[in-house]
Amino acid sequence: MITLKGQSELILMREAGRIASAALRLGGSMVRPGISTLELDRAMHKFILEQGATPSFLGYAGYPATACISINEQVIHGIPDHRVLCEGDIVSIDVGAIYKGYQGDNAATFPCGEISPEAQRLIDVTRRSFFEGIRYAKPGFRLGDIGFAIQSYVENEGFSVVRQYVGHGIGTEMHEDPEVPNYGMRGRGIRLMKGMTLAIEPMVNQGVYDVKVLKNGWTVVTADGKLSAHYENTLAVTDGEPEILTVCNLEE
Ligand code: MF3
Ligand code: CO
Repeated sequence: MITLKGQSELILMREAGRIASAALRLGGSMVRPGISTLELDRAMHKFILEQGATPSFLGYAGYPATACISINEQVIHGIPDHRVLCEGDIVSIDVGAIYKGYQGDNAATFPCGEISPEAQRLIDVTRRSFFEGIRYAKPGFRLGDIGFAIQSYVENEGFSVVRQYVGHGIGTEMHEDPEVPNYGMRGRGIRLMKGMTLAIEPMVNQGVYDVKVLKNGWTVVTADGKLSAHYENTLAVTDGEPEILTVCNLEE
C-alpha cells in the first residue's frame, strides 16, 4: 500500500531528512586514510541522538550499527568495524534517522585521499544517475521512467546497475511501497502522484551487475570484485519539481 503524505507529515519528513543528511555529511567529512569505519559510525550515532532523533538502521532486522559503510567492491550493507580506511578506497556511507516517527534515508560514496580517475568517474556517474532519474519523479510520469533514465545513463557510461536491490517508498517505515528499481522500461509501472515520498538509490557497478552476500549475512559485494558506488536521497513528489528532503547531501 502506498501512503501519500500531507503537509503536516512532510514537515516531519523534512526534519528527519535534514538530520539523516547532516549525519551523512558528517560521516563523509571524516573519511580519510587511517580512520576506522567504526569511528565514523560512532560519530554519526552520537550526532543523530544529539538532534533528538534515532538511527533507523540500528536493530532493523538485527542490523548492528547506525550506518552501513561499504568499501570498494562492497555495494551496500557493509558493517562498521575496526577496519581502517586506506588511501585510494572509495567509501559508501548509508545512514537513516527517525524523527517523531518519520524516516529519512540517504547515501553517498566518498573518496579516501587520492583515488583513481576511474573510481572518481564511477562516483560521479552514480550521483548524476540519481539526478537523471528524478527528472521523472513528478505527476505525469511512471516509476519505470525513473528506472529507465537511471539505467540508460549508467549503461551509456559503461557501468552497470544493480538489479537485486532497489529504492523504496519511505515514511513512518523505512521501507514502504512502492519498490523503486534503478532499471526499467519507459511508460511502465505505477503513476507518480503528489505526496509520494521515495528513497531513490542507484547502486552502480564498474563491472557486471551481479552481486553476492558475504558470510556475515549482510554485506553485499560485486560478483566480479570490481568497484561499486551508491547515491541516495529521500524525496517528495509534488505538483512540480520533486522536493529533496535529505538536503544536506546535496552540497558537493
Ligand atoms: N538504507 C538501506 C536502504 O536504503 C537500508 C539499510 S539496511 C539496514 O534500504 F538493515 F541496515 F537497516
Ligand atoms: Co534506502
